[in-house]
Amino acid sequence: MTDTIKIGRVTIPRTAALAPMAGVADRAYRLMCKKYGAAYVVSEMVSAKGICYSDRKTAELCTVTDDERPMAVQLFGSEPDFMAEAVKIVLEYRPDIIDINMGCPVPKVVGTGAGSALMKDIKLAADITEAAVKAAGETPVTVKIRSGWNAESINAPEMAKALEAAGAAAVAVHGRTRDMFYSGESDSSVIKAVKEAVSIPVIGNGDITDADSCVKMYSETGCDLVMIGRGSYGNPFIFREIEAKLRGEVYEPPALETKMQVMLEHIRLILELSEKCEELAMHEARKHAAWYMNGYYGSAKFRGRCYQLSSYAEAEALADEFIQLQRSRQASL
Ligand SMILES: Cc1cc2nc3c(=O)[nH]c(=O)nc-3n(C[C@H](O)[C@H](O)[C@H](O)COP(=O)(O)O)c2cc1C
Repeated sequence: MTDTIKIGRVTIPRTAALAPMAGVADRAYRLMCKKYGAAYVVSEMVSAKGICYSDRKTAELCTVTDDERPMAVQLFGSEPDFMAEAVKIVLEYRPDIIDINMGCPVPKVVGTGAGSALMKDIKLAADITEAAVKAAGETPVTVKIRSGWNAESINAPEMAKALEAAGAAAVAVHGRTRDMFYSGESDSSVIKAVKEAVSIPVIGNGDITDADSCVKMYSETGCDLVMIGRGSYGNPFIFREIEAKLRGEVYEPPALETKMQVMLEHIRLILELSEKCEELAMHEARKHAAWYMNGYYGSAKFRGRCYQLSSYAEAEALADEFIQLQRSRQASL
């Protein structure tokens, strides 16, 4: 296996990338994943139309800091003209890559003809891609798709071919249909079929939760890069674990104490990057804190308490209490 892949002019280590996740993978999250080895990160999706009408959230969503690179800004939209205009605006933020979302299943997005609705209109998907590619110049444009709209219309290989012809520099494929939303299992055979259909890099996505499932995705599909979403919840370490596995190195999972330190580091970063007061910024931090506590004795109760946190000091005290609980549990076994 090669060590890196190229998407247009951008070189990316061939380990694992962080998937775009609206409401989760904000700058603090991306920086944490980057610090623990994510090869590449993607912004939360941004509305192309919203950008054109100078949505106040544009700068917050499109800013790319050097520590996050290589990074893509992801756009969604259903009109080639708006997409081209949005790409030009986004280029001012100097993203390494511009990604177009053609996989989002939520009614609010699909209802506008964007996201996975484009899986039903390959011609329009290609036109949007072509418009974006023209506007983007040297900056590569990639597209993230699903396996199809529903089980009766699995068309990711055909879609990927059309996107390649329209100038896409890579495609990311989530092996679920739109109808599945996030349930059922991601089908890696569709990702393999896409890989066989196109010559641009193919990024495999869906249900990667550890190094073994990542290696399986690489070997079963022949994909060029793997992308991880929910498997990184409270677990930025997954990227190091994968890196170690791919290099044949021994991986030592972090001790609980380290995990809690990293959780607190993540919360500090959320507070530092937020423009909100501590109490409101802690609302953002709550779910992340809860995810870091997953999978331990008494987790459910502690996760509930995470959803009440309103200051950093409380988070510190809760982390200490959680560590004490695990220690006394160990001692009693
Ligand atoms: C909370 C959440 C938000 C998401 N937001 C986006 C998004 O903004 N753009 C996008 O292309 N996909 C989005 N996705 C889909 C993920 O990028 C990914 O394709 C999906 O979660 C499957 O990968 P996984 O099994 O590794 O989580 C989102 C998923 C989740 C769970």
